[in-house]
Amino acid sequence: MCGIVAYNGLKQASPIIIEGLKRLEYRGYDSAGIAVMGEKMQSFKQKGKVIDLEMVMSEHAISGTIGLGHTRWATHGAPNDINAHPQRSGNHDISLVHNGIIENYDVLKKLLAELGHQFESDTDTEVLVHLIEEYQGRENCTIEEAVNLALQKVIGAYAIVVFDKKFPDRLVGARKSSPLLLGIGEDELFLASDAAPVIKYTNRVIYLEDGEIVVLKKNGEYQISNLKNEVLNPKVQELDLSLEAIEKEGFEHFMLKEIFQQKETVYETLRGRFSAFDGWVSVGGLKKEFKKILKAKRLIMISSGTSWHAALVGEYLIEELARIPVEVEYSSEFRYRNPIISKRDVVVAISQSGETADTLAALELANSRHATTYGIVNVVGSSIARATKTGSYTHAGPEIGVASTKAFTSQVAMLTLVALSLAQERGTLSRSFTMQILTELENIPKKIERVLANADKIKYVASEIKDSTNALYLGRGYNFPIALEGALKLKEISYIHAEGYPAAEMKHGPIALIDENMPVIIIATNHSAHGKIISNIQEIKARKGVVISIVNEGDEVIKALSDYTIEIPEIVEPLSPILSVIPLQLLAYYIAVMRGCNVDQPRNLAKSVTVE
Ligand code: G6P
Repeated sequence: MCGIVAYNGLKQASPIIIEGLKRLEYRGYDSAGIAVMGEKMQSFKQKGKVIDLEMVMSEHAISGTIGLGHTRWATHGAPNDINAHPQRSGNHDISLVHNGIIENYDVLKKLLAELGHQFESDTDTEVLVHLIEEYQGRENCTIEEAVNLALQKVIGAYAIVVFDKKFPDRLVGARKSSPLLLGIGEDELFLASDAAPVIKYTNRVIYLEDGEIVVLKKNGEYQISNLKNEVLNPKVQELDLSLEAIEKEGFEHFMLKEIFQQKETVYETLRGRFSAFDGWVSVGGLKKEFKKILKAKRLIMISSGTSWHAALVGEYLIEELARIPVEVEYSSEFRYRNPIISKRDVVVAISQSGETADTLAALELANSRHATTYGIVNVVGSSIARATKTGSYTHAGPEIGVASTKAFTSQVAMLTLVALSLAQERGTLSRSFTMQILTELENIPKKIERVLANADKIKYVASEIKDSTNALYLGRGYNFPIALEGALKLKEISYIHAEGYPAAEMKHGPIALIDENMPVIIIATNHSAHGKIISNIQEIKARKGVVISIVNEGDEVIKALSDYTIEIPEIVEPLSPILSVIPLQLLAYYIAVMRGCNVDQPRNLAKSVTVE
């Protein structure tokens, strides 16, 4: 979590940094800060969002062409002005911004305190800046040397940028387990947590690797080395990312834009990877390790949050279509329970950001046990994408709303291709069923458009249930994970307590909660369980629950039993999650807007969880 932006060039640094921080606010937004060096050092820190920081800055004339900024998601120390970054050294010369956690900060803090260091904040970050100061004082060295020495003592995760008044021409950046990239422009250099703050100025970047330190000097000169002081010469990458892709383009919120983009983003995921006409599926990433994957004893999927729900859909898809056993694991549980992993296992890491700390660590564990690792990742060049042996990008484009929407449908689309590709090789599917699914896949963007055309009806349903304090989401089979995802969306952005359940499990607990104040959203599109879903609805109605059903177009039976229905087009069952999740995304979105919630930046959450 936390977003970092730093600039060293010829332009005024503060507008570039502030604009960049706004683009990174999805990473954390409880406080923000900036330090800019001109004739003198000017530093501002403010609890709240970047806009609150901007208000404070507007009362001052700020000038300087080198600086660093931070938007925070608190880990150590409450979100307040003092704990905001940059944190500074005791002599106020050194400023530092940090994304990550210094795990041994308490030991270091004690040692430094014994040496006379006094601390202002409750953060682990302040300990690091004091440690750098300590080394610089002792060794009388440059700031980059002091950073190197300090990092040798640090346990934990970090992406940092450091500025020292004594070396006013340079910034120093370093990373371990938290992302940091160097943007290379004409006579100007940037450091940022991702490409969004940089892309307006340059598409030439270097993703720093763990253990690397970069020094950014004036006139665009930079040097990358490792902690052993060996100079490195990594390749510059040219990013294929446009500015429009990271702007709202007329939508009220990023989340709404991203929900509406799904007709294109699902298409982008599928593009070039199958042909309904010729009846083939080809997933490049799988092919690289196809032999091992086909021989695998089982697939283990690791992920968190919404990506975990996509993995659950993947389990249904791969087990049904390709008949390979799949286990779905929360990355955070998997990595800490000494799991049984052998080289005959395939571990599939699913992640939008490609930076989720637990998924990355679980993946590294799988690599260390020689499993074949395969990534399904959205952000190109991200840490998880680089740590897997092979992988496929979902190509959903930048997702900025903290609640994941388009990334989810793209993950499910990708997993559908994986299942079909494995099924094709293993001969587990009939030709006619394969052709039916492929034809439906080809038509899915049009069907998504039809779901989106119901937005006004969904808005009306939202207005009817927006004041509820609880909600229950039910689904069966492929739509059980969608019930979980629908409930998560509502919780995340509207702060209404919601739970997802397999419809049949309702009788084992949640039914006790149902009364006239409990909306029950039931995904009732499955043909195979239609009769059973009707019984579930009757059980809810008998207890006066409010039933909102997601049904196939023309399903008059369920419509007659429900208080509200939202129709979606008919589709072959394995593909239904891609359609049925969309009304739930919209429902959560409209309810949150009506309740006055900050949809794109819900409280306490962050898009990219780069700490454990
Ligand atoms: C956070 C985000 C979720 C996301 C989860 C996993 O909790 O708020 O939207 O699903 O992390 O992130 P990943 O980037 O690994 O998919």
